[in-house]
Amino acid sequence: MDASLLDRAGALPLPDLYEKVRHHVPAIEWPALADDVAAIQALKRARNAVVLAHNYQAPEIFHTVADIVGDSLALAREAARTDADVIVLAGVHFMAETAKILNPGKTVLIPDPEAGCSLAESITAADVRSLRRRHPGVPVVTYVNTSAAVKAESDLCCTSGNARAVVESLGAPRVLMIPDEYLAQNVQAELPGIEILTWAGHCEVHERFTAADIREAREAYPGVTVLAHPECPPAVVAEADFSGSTAAMQDYVETHRPAQVVMITECAMADNLAVRNPDVAFVKPCNLCPHMKRISLRKIRRSLEGLTHEVTVPDALIAPARRAVERMLAVRP
Ligand code: 13P
Ligand code: SF4
Repeated sequence: MDASLLDRAGALPLPDLYEKVRHHVPAIEWPALADDVAAIQALKRARNAVVLAHNYQAPEIFHTVADIVGDSLALAREAARTDADVIVLAGVHFMAETAKILNPGKTVLIPDPEAGCSLAESITAADVRSLRRRHPGVPVVTYVNTSAAVKAESDLCCTSGNARAVVESLGAPRVLMIPDEYLAQNVQAELPGIEILTWAGHCEVHERFTAADIREAREAYPGVTVLAHPECPPAVVAEADFSGSTAAMQDYVETHRPAQVVMITECAMADNLAVRNPDVAFVKPCNLCPHMKRISLRKIRRSLEGLTHEVTVPDALIAPARRAVERMLAVRP
């Protein structure tokens, strides 16, 4: 390695943090990343800011600068609780919007405003109004992977971590569950007594997995444990040993400690879990989310330096969208 990359003692900078990410970040790249990490830590103190990072963020973000990590539900809960002045959402746009809806008086930043989501793109507020006209009186449960405008038209939200509990909490015979068709079908399989009406939205990461992928993994790694996210098609979930949100998959690994596991979800999930669970072997397949991968340490640094890109939600949407999110937060799985 170039000697200029080393500090005066001949060691890599921030060695404790590098230890956590060394399987994912080549040593040659670490000094530049460590510079961003140090700058982000200082900026967080100066601005009274927190970084909330989703489980799909790359290890060099997840394990170095995040104050709070978790699934969509945990990030929404923590966003509702924080007393920081500035919230940086290392995740995708709908997550930052949810944080803003819960904290209209705070500055909420997203390091890359183009970090979207195929599910959020699949439905508009006008679509929800038209669904309501077609199904009068049927409550609308909306996945948090949607815009504030869609949330504002909904009765309450859900995440993959509480979808079943949210639908059950309504006590209704028919429920519209939008926009993730596969999540809705997977909940339907668990709740045969309720009729769940769906919308044809899909996650571009999870819809690509097939039941054949799982059978191939079982053949290649006999005895492997298969965990699948409920955004996967029902045929994939049916082949898995367990299905749950990213936080539920983490709990499963840390409770059951399988020798070998395949996580049928975004690749960073296994990368981040491997750091804390070196005795578990994580095997492929996995898929990358191009939206989550738009976030980098450099963009988080720039975001805190210039207070960009600020996420705003029109005043008229805040109250109805907040009602739907808060009704969700009140449901205990
Ligand atoms: P959860 O972390 O809530 O399971 O969500 C997964 C996801 O795809 C978020 O975009
Ligand atoms: Fe959206 Fe899927 Fe990416 Fe999550 S993984 S942000 S649901 S496209």
